[in-house]
Amino acid sequence: MRLSSDLSPTASLPSSPRSGSPTRVSRSAPDAGPTGLSLLRHHLRILRDPLAGIHEVTARYGSMVRMDWGPFVFWLANDPDAIKHVLVDNAKAYHKSRNYDGLRLALGKGLVTSEGELWRAQRKLVAPAFTPARIQRYVPAFVKAAEDAADGWRAGTDRSRTDVHHDMMALTFRIVGHTLFGTELGADADRIGPAFEEVLRFAEDYSMSLVRIPHRWPTPANYRFDRALATLDALVERIVRERRERLARGGDAGEDVLAALLAARDESGREMDARQLRDEVLTLVGAGHETTANALSFTLYLLSLHPHWERRVVEEIRGISGERSPSMEELGRMSLLERVIEESMRLLPPVWGFERQAQEDDVVLGRRIDKGHILGVSTWTLHRMPEYWENPEGFDPDRFLPERKKERPRFAYVPFGAGPRICLGASFAMLEAKAILAVLLRRFRFEVASGYRLVPEPLVTLRPKGGIAMVRHFR
Ligand code: HEM
Repeated sequence: MRLSSDLSPTASLPSSPRSGSPTRVSRSAPDAGPTGLSLLRHHLRILRDPLAGIHEVTARYGSMVRMDWGPFVFWLANDPDAIKHVLVDNAKAYHKSRNYDGLRLALGKGLVTSEGELWRAQRKLVAPAFTPARIQRYVPAFVKAAEDAADGWRAGTDRSRTDVHHDMMALTFRIVGHTLFGTELGADADRIGPAFEEVLRFAEDYSMSLVRIPHRWPTPANYRFDRALATLDALVERIVRERRERLARGGDAGEDVLAALLAARDESGREMDARQLRDEVLTLVGAGHETTANALSFTLYLLSLHPHWERRVVEEIRGISGERSPSMEELGRMSLLERVIEESMRLLPPVWGFERQAQEDDVVLGRRIDKGHILGVSTWTLHRMPEYWENPEGFDPDRFLPERKKERPRFAYVPFGAGPRICLGASFAMLEAKAILAVLLRRFRFEVASGYRLVPEPLVTLRPKGGIAMVRHFR
């Protein structure tokens, strides 16, 4: 088995340790984990290449690995039963870890980073915009945005080379504007994309460093972060101001997320304070477009490497919706397309890991977890464990056929997390991805540009470093 975070476009998603060794990932003996020099070596390796480093230490020590880093005890918990316990059964005993502090500096107390009563109340407030009935109503907006993008490309030449990741970010960003905030964000995409990237890079560096430089110190990294944040804040300010102006002119309040946030009142009748509103809007703009764009880009990339699956999925799309834009009912019948997206998120999970910190002492799979210990799940590693995935590096969407799904533990696949903090936008993202791919694959064939190599970059999300160079061919 090969594992590296450099993925070659010519092989069938290879992966191997650059240094050689690991073979099978297996359940460990109690409290297995590196110590002494070996710990230092693994630590440095994880800092340099988190995807390969975490996979290697899991392969060497098992699915519950303990690592003591100075005052911090860190467990790698890549085990379906441990995941169920921590994220679902005993979720109340855990908060998101201190490694979200970088993200907290950017997103404040928005849905992704808040805890306790505030989180519960805000999730209840926003959830109605993500019910199945509401999400179905977004389908025309998903399809229209994809058709608009395709029309724009169609006006160009056949065989145009493009950065597919940039294109997908612009598309999903526009969709978030239309569906969640009732506004047009298309013109902002080129400024906002780099600003989000800067913030994610800062958050990742901040969380990985054992010694944290205070955010108020005048360092180049802090300066770049503040500048990026100012760009994002200006966007949020505009989204809110435009809606308030529309309401002041007697315009319709609407039913979208922004309407719910603006209409919310606490027990004493006060509206949400400006800072909380800003945190929620920025969180939803960010969470609502970047991950889906990554999933779409990786899926187009993987299909190009596997033309047999690409042919099959295009046949399915054409067989169901012909040359028309797909309807909600037709998207529901595109089961191979859904399996392709699931398989893509297995191999290249847009959120490559998440963490919890124990708020009280606990026991997980017989290991003692003390208050303050951190438990990390790496979807990148979990989704490649040979116990659950035959030929883990191979691209095989049929692993997600219902009968084959039943053979695996439910928590061996968690691209959207699990339990009460499961991704609020999971169904939205799946339907959006299906709608966009059904439109684009019917009209274009995407081919990996010659000489291009995918390098997945694990920031808070898993991104294609430097974009994905592909050539679009008209069909
Ligand atoms: C393929 C696309 C997506 C993936 C892979 C993804 C993945 C995730 C994951 C893994 C989490 C949980 C993290 C944790 O437990 O620490 C999460 C949380 C969240 N996601 Fe997504 N997400 C996607 C799309 C979206 C979209 C489209 C939206 C909104 C429109 C969204 C909104 C959120 C929110 C608000 C949370 C925080 C939920 C809470 O803590 O209550 N996500 N997402």
